[in-house]
Amino acid sequence: MNVGVKNIGLKDFDIPLIMIGLFEKASEDSLASDLTDVIGDIIQMGDFKGKSSEISIVYTKNKLATNRLLLVGLGKEEKYSLESARKAIGDASRKARDLDAKKLGLSLDHFTREKYGIVETAEAIAQGLIMGSFQNLDYRTKDLEKYKHLEEVTIISPSANIEEMKKGAESGKIIADAVNFCRKLAWGPANYINPTKLANEAKRLESELGVKTKIIEREEAKEIGLTSFLAVAQGTEEPPKFIIMEYGAEKEGVDTVALIGKAITFDTGGISLKPGSGMERMKADMTGGAVVISAMEAIAKLKPNLHVVGLVPATDNMPSGKAYHPGDIITSYSGQTIEVISTDAEGRMIINDALTYAAKNYNPKAMFDFATLTGAMMIALGEHAIGYFANNDEIANKLEKASETCGEKIWRMPLWEEYDEQIKSDVADFKHTGGRPGGAVTAARFLSKFVMDVPWAHLDIAGVMGQDRDKGYNPKGSKGPAVRLIIDVLRNW
Ligand code: BES
Ligand code: MN
Ligand code: ZN
Repeated sequence: MNVGVKNIGLKDFDIPLIMIGLFEKASEDSLASDLTDVIGDIIQMGDFKGKSSEISIVYTKNKLATNRLLLVGLGKEEKYSLESARKAIGDASRKARDLDAKKLGLSLDHFTREKYGIVETAEAIAQGLIMGSFQNLDYRTKDLEKYKHLEEVTIISPSANIEEMKKGAESGKIIADAVNFCRKLAWGPANYINPTKLANEAKRLESELGVKTKIIEREEAKEIGLTSFLAVAQGTEEPPKFIIMEYGAEKEGVDTVALIGKAITFDTGGISLKPGSGMERMKADMTGGAVVISAMEAIAKLKPNLHVVGLVPATDNMPSGKAYHPGDIITSYSGQTIEVISTDAEGRMIINDALTYAAKNYNPKAMFDFATLTGAMMIALGEHAIGYFANNDEIANKLEKASETCGEKIWRMPLWEEYDEQIKSDVADFKHTGGRPGGAVTAARFLSKFVMDVPWAHLDIAGVMGQDRDKGYNPKGSKGPAVRLIIDVLRNW
């Protein structure tokens, strides 16, 4: 979808459809009273109340240059935020798409409020539209013509600074495209989205955007001692890939930040096999890796003054004659030994090697890992917030600030050493699981043993990985979680 901007009044813009936002009590809104001859009736009769995400279409009967207005409810004005705008626009974007308008105008002034500048408002609008109308038709062959597309959106305002509008629309598009790309990878089936495919996407970033890429194959991983990663990979015929991407490697005197993403391209549980029902959802167990690859793409386009290293250990977790067993003792890249308890706790086996690899080889100022790590996190926080753990308050603050600007909810979880009792092993340095109580916390404690004192945050995105219905700017399927969050952390660095 292309997003353009234009200085033109709402009444004069000749386009098949224009979206405007209205608050509850729209009758008292001066922006609404300008349009009384068109929308006066629907508001007076109470058929459109302006409740959050309420949507109505009004036919303008030649009173405006456009034929149709798409009214979007923004709820109570006191509660307005760019996040509520994003959500309402997201809901309305699917309506606009399905009307087959192809071209859509959107009135910026209806979403600008004193609290927010033009750049950030235009950015939020572009995001709501692009994320909300996302659909993936890659795997369909039938009736493709019945799926509609929004091809071109123009954000309009008679007077707002056009350069600022443009800047916001552009960054909004870069970020929302990254979210959609993450969704495509995350929800794609394991027979297409395998480690090789992820490595190829990294190489695409190299050829298109100059992101320096290194793919460590099974043999080389063996030589350098990524043994914990390989323990999971030894059960699969599908070639594993340890993917490394670097943005800004040539920059001098800038901070290095490492992003690590769990990419289990399919999680069967291995020998500790998962129950069959719902197992297909484990195609999305590479969401963390997808977050890192898509964030790297956005960062390479937004160009912050930073050195960002993305590390994506990618493999299937399969049961087989070669698979690792419960009870195995593995020497990790860090040199510490791990007693395997359940082969289904494979995420922490691949992430620990990547954390140590990043800490040892890149001297990062901070590390962030993203992983659909535990069902326990899903139970703890449900689908609305990312649970995160941090060994450093400054890093936590950066995440909290980014959460405020991007609207993705996060919640800090404890990383107290009391939990270590649960991962003490009788035979090795650590057991790699600590039983059901506090399962997300013991997983984080386990990972903390591999970060070598680097300021670090672990984001468990299992709960927010996807949803089963269209809602706001998230259509059914993968949410593309944490992409906007980490981009904002890096932009604000
Ligand atoms: N990928 C799963 C966690 C998960 C579950 C993510 C549901 C999204 C939805 C992870 O590899 C896993 O299997 N974790 C186990 C750990 C346990 C064996 C300690 C879990 O959470 O049950
Ligand atoms: Mn698992
Ligand atoms: Zn998993």
